[in-house]
Amino acid sequence: MIFLTTLLLFALSTSAARYPSFGTLQTTTSSGVLNVVINNTFSSINLFDFHVQSDLANLIETLQAPDTDIRVVVFSSGNPDFFIGHIDVNYFLPGYDSPLPAFDPFLPGVTFPTALLWNITQLPQATIASIEGRTRGIGNEFLMSLDMRFATTSPSVLLAQLETSFGLNPGAGGALYLAPLIGRGRTFEYVLAAKDIDAATAAEYGWINKAFDTHAALTDYVQALAARIALFPAAGIAGTKQGINAVSRPSLDVIVHEAQNVIGVLAQNPEARAFTEKFVVATDNQSAVELELNYGEELVKLFQ
Ligand SMILES: *[C@@H]1O[C@H](CO)[C@@H](O)[C@H](O)[C@H]1NC(C)=O
Ligand SMILES: *[C@@H]1O[C@H](CO)[C@@H](O)[C@H](O)[C@H]1NC(C)=O
Ligand SMILES: *[C@@H]1O[C@H](CO)[C@@H](O)[C@H](O)[C@H]1NC(C)=O
Repeated sequence: MIFLTTLLLFALSTSAARYPSFGTLQTTTSSGVLNVVINNTFSSINLFDFHVQSDLANLIETLQAPDTDIRVVVFSSGNPDFFIGHIDVNYFLPGYDSPLPAFDPFLPGVTFPTALLWNITQLPQATIASIEGRTRGIGNEFLMSLDMRFATTSPSVLLAQLETSFGLNPGAGGALYLAPLIGRGRTFEYVLAAKDIDAATAAEYGWINKAFDTHAALTDYVQALAARIALFPAAGIAGTKQGINAVSRPSLDVIVHEAQNVIGVLAQNPEARAFTEKFVVATDNQSAVELELNYGEELVKLFQ
């Protein structure tokens, strides 16, 4: 009887997720590599809304567990047109309703999305993005939080920090990561102008590691890289990440004060609110319309 109770408690404690589960992440594991397919079935553009954030927070908790045997995590998308559309911009409007806390209960002063992306940079595993589809706003900030980024040269791959066009800034620190990757001038050019970048140019600049002509070439390369890293002891991977992070990542303090708290103020501006409301209407509440597919070109129309 005691034995049975112990077993039951163990099963409960390993399956109980801290946040609600919405099934937006499909995972498969093989030899130390966890493949995660992001497929937000609540959104036609794979929005980084509370469903995805909640599922990611639960995933992170399992990856932080000391007993995990996962050494590499590969993220791809189940939506061929959108790797991650962007944040659900309703987040910035009054009346936004979410089961997630606004601030991470364990990291005082850090908003939930900022904590989520910071935690991803801290994972002991090597993390890789296999990008197909558009990835804008917090989607690109998510890419920045990963160790490595690869994409296809398909025209559906467009990356951008689009926040400036809303009267906002990349609030989870995306532009702060981009500056050391592609340089100060190019960061200003792409982020201030909210411009889309294609995969070939992104690879040339160092925004992503490498671009491939086909889905098969991308997948083969990423899976071989992941399998190779996963051969090595977990301690070596985590220890190497610690040093590279120390010299190439902005501090949490800078992210919170120079990005997160800035967007917190900007989001209150009537101009930002009005644009956000206009965007929600013009995109049919963030569905796969032309404005979402081709935001880099189409956004100018919102100012006419
Ligand atoms: C993603 O979800 C949609 C349902 O919204 C489904 O039709 C599709 O097959 C899924 N894609 C993958 C790769 O699982
Ligand atoms: C981030 O990680 C910390 C532990 O380092 C944890 O307390 C917190 O809940 C995590 N937050 C998210 C959103 O993953
Ligand atoms: C847009 O969709 C969200 C759910 O994703 C909903 O909460 C919100 O009320 C919708 N907004 C409009 C203007 O329809």
